[in-house]
Amino acid sequence: MTLLPNHLHEQLADIAAPILSKCNQKPTVGIVLGSGLSGFGDSLTDAQVFPYSELPHFPDSTVAGHSGKLIIAPYKGTTIACLQGRFHYYEGYDNAQVTLPVRLLKQLGVETLILTNAAGGIQDGMSADDLMLITDHLNMMGRNPLTGKNLDFLGPRFPDMTNVYSQKLQQAALSVAKQQGITLKQGVYAGVTGPSYETPAEIRMLKTLGADAVGMSTVPEAIAARHAGIDVLGLSCISNLAAGLHHTTLTHEEVLEAGKSVAKTLQTLVGGVLDAITTPQQPKTFA
Ligand code: HPA
Repeated sequence: MTLLPNHLHEQLADIAAPILSKCNQKPTVGIVLGSGLSGFGDSLTDAQVFPYSELPHFPDSTVAGHSGKLIIAPYKGTTIACLQGRFHYYEGYDNAQVTLPVRLLKQLGVETLILTNAAGGIQDGMSADDLMLITDHLNMMGRNPLTGKNLDFLGPRFPDMTNVYSQKLQQAALSVAKQQGITLKQGVYAGVTGPSYETPAEIRMLKTLGADAVGMSTVPEAIAARHAGIDVLGLSCISNLAAGLHHTTLTHEEVLEAGKSVAKTLQTLVGGVLDAITTPQQPKTFA
């Protein structure tokens, strides 16, 4: 399906209307589940499930570990929208496609977005299965998702990116981690396009530039979310040590496996953050 920048407003409304008609409440929190982390979406009860293939204007997601579904469910006194499956540049998608799910969440009413991903660890002392709170990012993708005609209905031409990752949400995540005894590292996420993993020299370069972890997603979504005024929390599951920092070769299977093993911890963390940031909703009528 083609997304047309001049018609994106109408296209988003087209996608959102049938979804909202099936939900009792608008979602206020969105979660994008990264590689191997989709189990969180499957654990939700009383959920409305919308396969991407049934949503108008939606591309299909093609990567193993990304099943391509929007799940809307009541959770901890609010309603959340989980995106199981995202669109990456390395699959050949363009800016409008990569950012479509986040913009749809905005259209559905989401004000807070939790972006999760699998990432390679770069920071000294990191190991596979660590969780990292994203404090900031480096856009190493050679492109910006807001390039082209500005979508004024979403946000300004030159949006500020000083606090991409909300300080308030970071504090909430850190205090939940402390209460729950979860070790939560903190650092800068470098977004690269992939699909090849990095060379050891590239990892040394990224480290010199200030990166603590590296991955192939999240940055365009975070930029699009901030453009649209959504508060963002970013969590990386460190699935492997980045190239050259470990003896083994890197495989996507390893990334998926590591995702599974930290999924439970991630779920606890996300649950605690939702407790900390949400107040129970009143039944809602749609304007
Ligand atoms: N590099 C880039 N992306 C990744 C990695 C990595 O080492 N691990 C998981 N996603």
